[in-house]
Order: sequence, then structure tokens, then C-alpha cells
Amino acid sequence: MHDRNGDRAAVAGWAARWPTDAADAPLFGREDDLGLVEAFVADVRRSAGAGPLLLSGEPGVGKSALLAAAGRTAEDAGVRVLHTTGMPYLAQPGYSALAQLLRPAAEGRAACAPGRALGVALGCHTGPAPEYDEVARAVVSLVADLARDRPVLLIVDDVQWLDGASATVLGQVARRLAGEAAGMLCAARTGGESFFDSTGLPAHDLAPLSDAASEALLVSRFPALALRVRRRLMAQAQGNPLALLELPVALTDSQRAAAETLPGRLPLSRRLQDAFASRVTALPAA
Ligand SMILES: Nc1ncnc2c1ncn2[C@@H]1O[C@H](COP(=O)(O)OP(=O)(O)O)[C@@H](O)[C@H]1O
Ligand SMILES: [Mg+2]
Repeated sequence: MHDRNGDRAAVAGWAARWPTDAADAPLFGREDDLGLVEAFVADVRRSAGAGPLLLSGEPGVGKSALLAAAGRTAEDAGVRVLHTTGMPYLAQPGYSALAQLLRPAAEGRAACAPGRALGVALGCHTGPAPEYDEVARAVVSLVADLARDRPVLLIVDDVQWLDGASATVLGQVARRLAGEAAGMLCAARTGGESFFDSTGLPAHDLAPLSDAASEALLVSRFPALALRVRRRLMAQAQGNPLALLELPVALTDSQRAAAETLPGRLPLSRRLQDAFASRVTALPAA
């Protein structure tokens, strides 16, 4: 088993980069949340045993954008950032998210040597399926080893979509990192089912943007929106940045300028439909 390295490489190559729009755009109205993740990164840097922190919130509220900001802050401060993300709708081989997170750092190290549990989990070589607990212990010791060079920040996005093996192991790792010069920053959809056990982990709920921040975002990205249209979009988006960015896209130029009345029900862009689709399909038919 664990010999599907080709699949893993493809998955890792696609997802290892930050989502580009999340990495470049300025964040509106997130001063407090940025302060929190920056303090977290500072703890990692000071080798203060930052442990885990879980960001939670609705689809589109800005979890990945905040993770990207934390990752940039950490890299700028000389922290080694390792990143992985769960992915929906993909039949993923076991440990694919863990491999994406650690394989680049583990390759060439003892942890990846033949006969080692972690090497099998990461697909460095084949062998009997290792126990979760053994893999979790090997991950903690690899991270501790890496952290002797410089502090390490593990970023795990969309934990609700991690493959089961990675979720189980990373849930255990999150609890065992205290005391290392390392931290683990995770993000999850509110209420998302997951193998990742977040019970008792420190969590921070990302609230919707304030009206002022929502308006600033709209004005900056869609300066041609008529005031009336802007207010209507803000009422509809309820502080969700993804909705604020996507609702205007589905309008015509004359609708944006309020030269034409808006329909009673605003059209939803594909991206917006996708973001909330899993919520809708999970609802009872009625
Ligand atoms: N505070 C913000 N200001 C401006 N744009 C934002 C903000 N938060 C998120 N975005 C943008 O909104 C979209 C959705 O954010 P994202 O981080 O992907 O949400 P989530 O990960 O919670 O589903 C992205 O395009 C992101 O760049
Ligand atoms: Mg996200």
C-alpha cells in the first residue's frame, strides 16, 4: 500500500501554493484577528510552545486568507512554514494531506528511511500500514528535529476535508506539540464533520465583517457600484467576504449602476454556489 506517489505529487503540486487571491488581497476589518495570529506566530518564534490554534467559521468568511497572512508573517520572521489542506470531492489515498505537509521536509532525513513508520505514511517507501500512534509520535519528533534549525509553523486548512488517516494523526500531533519550537494553525468550517478531533483545542471563531469593513471592501473592489446597490449587497452578504466579492460579479453593468432594478433574488456566481453547496446538499429535502 501507500505507493500512489504520483497521485500525491499531483495533489501536493496543486495545493501546496497559497490560493493566489487569498495571498495578495489586503484584509479588511481583520485587525483583531490578525493581531491574534501574529501573537501566535510570535509565540512560535520565541519557541514559547505555541501548541495548536483552530480558526473556525462559515465558508467564505476568510479562514484561508487569514492562514495565508499568518504564513507570510511567519516566513518573513524566519519561521519554516509547512502547509497542507483537506480537499473535497477527491478520493484521496490515506495520508495524502500528511504527505503534502511533511514530505518535502522529511525527504533525505532519518524519519523517511526504509523501515520507518513515517516513511511509509508519507509514501517515501512501501511497508506494512503503520499504527496512527506510531506515525503521530514520529511526526512530533520530526517537527522537533526541524525546529532545532529554526521554528516551525504547521498550517492545516480545511480540516473537515482531510483524509481520515491524516486527520487522526494531525489531531494527535496538535496535542503533543506543546514544548517544541513549533505551532499548528488550523482552519475548519463551523459544524463541519471531521475525523480531526478538535475537542479541547484552543479555537478562535472568525466573525462576519462589520458593516464598515464590508463597505470598505466593496468600495475598494467595485468602485462603480451605486450606493443603493452597495447597501443591498451588504444586506445580502451579511459580512461574508466571499459573498461581498462574488455577488457584484453576477450583476450587469446597468444593475451595478442602479440604472436597472435588481431582481428580488440576487443571482449567485458559480464560486458562491460551490462554497455553500455542501451545506445545501446536507439539508433535508424540504
Ligand atoms: N477580510 C477580508 N478582506 C478582503 N477580502 C477577504 C477578506 N477575507 C477573505 N477575503 C477574500 O474572500 C474570499 C473568501 O475567503 P477565504 O479565506 O477563501 O474564506 P474561507 O477559507 O473561510 O472559506 C477570498 O477571495 C479572500 O481573499
Ligand atoms: Mg478556505
